[in-house]
Amino acid sequence: MEAKSDMQAVQMPWVEKYRPEKLEDLVAQDDIVASITSLIDSGNLPHLLLYGPPGTGKTSTIVAAAKRMYGSTKAYNSMTLELNASDARGIDVVRNEIKEFAGTQQLFLKGIKLIILDEADAMTSDAQFALRRIMEKYSKNCRFCLICNYVSKIIPALQSRCTRFRFSPLASNQIQGRLEHVAMNEHCPTTPDGIQAILRLSGGDMRRVLNLLQATAMSHHDRPVDETAVYLTSGAPLPNDIDRILEWLMNHDFAAAFRDIHYLCTTKGYALTDVLQDLTDKILCLDMDSVPLGLLLDGMSAVEHRLALGTDERIQLASLVGVFVQTRQSLQVL
Ligand SMILES: Nc1ncnc2c1ncn2[C@@H]1O[C@H](COP(=O)(O)OP(=O)(O)OP(=O)(O)O)[C@@H](O)[C@H]1O
Ligand SMILES: [Mg+2]
Repeated sequence: MEAKSDMQAVQMPWVEKYRPEKLEDLVAQDDIVASITSLIDSGNLPHLLLYGPPGTGKTSTIVAAAKRMYGSTKAYNSMTLELNASDARGIDVVRNEIKEFAGTQQLFLKGIKLIILDEADAMTSDAQFALRRIMEKYSKNCRFCLICNYVSKIIPALQSRCTRFRFSPLASNQIQGRLEHVAMNEHCPTTPDGIQAILRLSGGDMRRVLNLLQATAMSHHDRPVDETAVYLTSGAPLPNDIDRILEWLMNHDFAAAFRDIHYLCTTKGYALTDVLQDLTDKILCLDMDSVPLGLLLDGMSAVEHRLALGTDERIQLASLVGVFVQTRQSLQVL
């Protein structure tokens, strides 16, 4: 039994280990934290709608807010109800759970209860319409906090009942401090290019940052978290491989370019979609005339579209090489 709990301690995901305990611990989102803190402290908490991309601190914010409201863990447990709104169980179960929770009197605890509905954008619109009424009915002693990624999927009637807070992707400089703090605490050596690689690949998602750091540290014990280790762990193409692919596409004939890129992608396990994404970023940074640029991007977006439909990678790679060869040829004709 003990061995098992030891193992669990070792393997605890860093995203959970470093989930902010208090509102002040959240990096970025300062305005939101300040507003929610003052709403709690003045006792005027409205219904809330927190929305924004993954890994930006929405769930952490409301959990930390609830801890601030209720103080002790015991009070927190009995005064909050966390429901996963996207559960396939339907609104009836949700309604019953809310009814039961809202209707129960706590002997020693007074005040407003909090009902957290995570992933609210996955609720059907019927369920959302039903929720409208539920929210009104229990407004007297409960506050609702809806959390979602896409606010456009929440019906206007629910949006208008809530105070909305938009969470933006975290900026690199905001992530960096937290990342370095976690790496230091875990005795995990990093190099500056490793840190930059994690920031680049995370797209402002703190969950991805911590998962990538942990996965890299665990799969490369013998070396620090440097750029190559990060890219190898994430499976994303290495920047200098993208440079080589672009060089082949721009200068080699069809057969040679296809052969070399195919070999590189299969040996390194790169997905063509990732290569296309990085190539697009590279091409947009080149100082290219608008006609060839337009031709390339048009052709590449067609390849990307077909890949998204699940077509054969090898044929799509041939098509990508074809786009470059054709563009080069049409420039000679022009
Ligand atoms: N602003 C932040 N400050 C510090 N850590 C953060 C922040 N945002 C996210 N994290 C880290 O990322 C993890 C995931 O955050 P959280 O669950 O709050 O994201 P979310 O916005 O609810 O994402 P999703 O939309 O995918 O549910 C947390 O455990 C925490 O470690
Ligand atoms: Mg969440």
